[in-house]
Amino acid sequence: MLTIEDLFGYEILDSRGRPTVAVRARLSDGTVAAAQVPSGASTGTHEALELRDGDPARYAGKGTRKAAAAVREKLLPLVRGMDAGDQQGVDRALIPLKQEAGANAVLGVSCAVARAVADSRHEPLWRVLAAGRRASIPVPMVNIFSGGLHAGRNIEFQDFLALPHGFTTFAEALHAVSRIHAAARKLCESSGLAMTGVADEGGWGPALGSNEQALDLLTRSIGRAGYKPGAEVSIAIDVAASHFFREGRYHLATENRVLDESEMTGLLESWSQRYPVISIEDGLHEDAWAGWVRLTERLGPRLQLTGDDLFTTNPARVRRGIESRAGNAVLVKMNQIGTLTETFEVIDLVTAAGWRGVVSARSGDTEDPFLADLAVASGLGQIKVGSVTRSERLAKYNRLLELESEGGLPFSTLGIVKK
Ligand code: PGA
Ligand code: ZN
Repeated sequence: MLTIEDLFGYEILDSRGRPTVAVRARLSDGTVAAAQVPSGASTGTHEALELRDGDPARYAGKGTRKAAAAVREKLLPLVRGMDAGDQQGVDRALIPLKQEAGANAVLGVSCAVARAVADSRHEPLWRVLAAGRRASIPVPMVNIFSGGLHAGRNIEFQDFLALPHGFTTFAEALHAVSRIHAAARKLCESSGLAMTGVADEGGWGPALGSNEQALDLLTRSIGRAGYKPGAEVSIAIDVAASHFFREGRYHLATENRVLDESEMTGLLESWSQRYPVISIEDGLHEDAWAGWVRLTERLGPRLQLTGDDLFTTNPARVRRGIESRAGNAVLVKMNQIGTLTETFEVIDLVTAAGWRGVVSARSGDTEDPFLADLAVASGLGQIKVGSVTRSERLAKYNRLLELESEGGLPFSTLGIVKK
């Protein structure tokens, strides 16, 4: 039996230059493998604990040395000698320590063990993760314009993404969005917008006069790049509404408007009719369950309504959403919940309910391509990694290009409606 011999955690920096955790696992046959943990900025209230040192002398209190040290001191004793191939057994042993050691430490162990097992068996990571599930190469939803907490609050909505659903391969879909990203820059420049580098996820973050302007620019960028908006490439948005919600209202400061829940729903409805929007993430606040049900009744038949902060990849919250029909899709982020086993619990709930799912990176991510294999293994058919610049983003796309080039995996347009 292949067992866990050693675990070692260490502090590294994420794509924003902030500390995060990496873990190296050693198995009984000598296999050593490491995994890096991502870190969000627009985090949901219900996410698992990301343990930070709180020492103001280092990284403004955001150091991760405590979480890193907990890997060997607190987590290793729980799983040393366990069957490394029993991911569920390993994860179940770790789950009670999420609060004490940090979900960042726990997730690092969960992922490093999975990768070490794959390496030891000389199998691709996705196949080990899939464990018999139907794997596929996902369609990317790619950030072109960024706002909110990822771009200095230039506008309130967080992501304006191109969803290239009219292509038969991942490589072609990625090529299309790369052209759209370039066209978007040119369009901004010719519109007199100052372009000063890219935002946290590699998209453009110009100072715009309104959120709607981003929708208009993206629709025109798709056209300028030579694609038919709505036919080949549609738009997904991540409103990330919890992050401009105060005292029961949605504060669109850029537009000088304060909206209540039904006005916000109405705004999303009208914009999704005027622009080729097919997917809306976090259109309402993370605890507005009744509002989400009404939003879904109204827009669910036409649109993918994805819960990110609403569900926080938490099986209990996802179950509640499915039972009450709050949303019809789930954003899947491993570090919101802390183990691979719980992540797959959510993936399986989504699949069984006939919902849609999007496997997602974080705004603070790393060069680890793990997520690409997770997305393939999930069979959910969609991945959200940010834009087509910045190597922490490209690491995932490049892995998907590699897997597609090898052949054997279908490219999924699962859940994407072609207009
Ligand atoms: P985050 O953003 O990683 O900062 O939470 C990603 C998202 O909201 O989808
Ligand atoms: Zn989100």
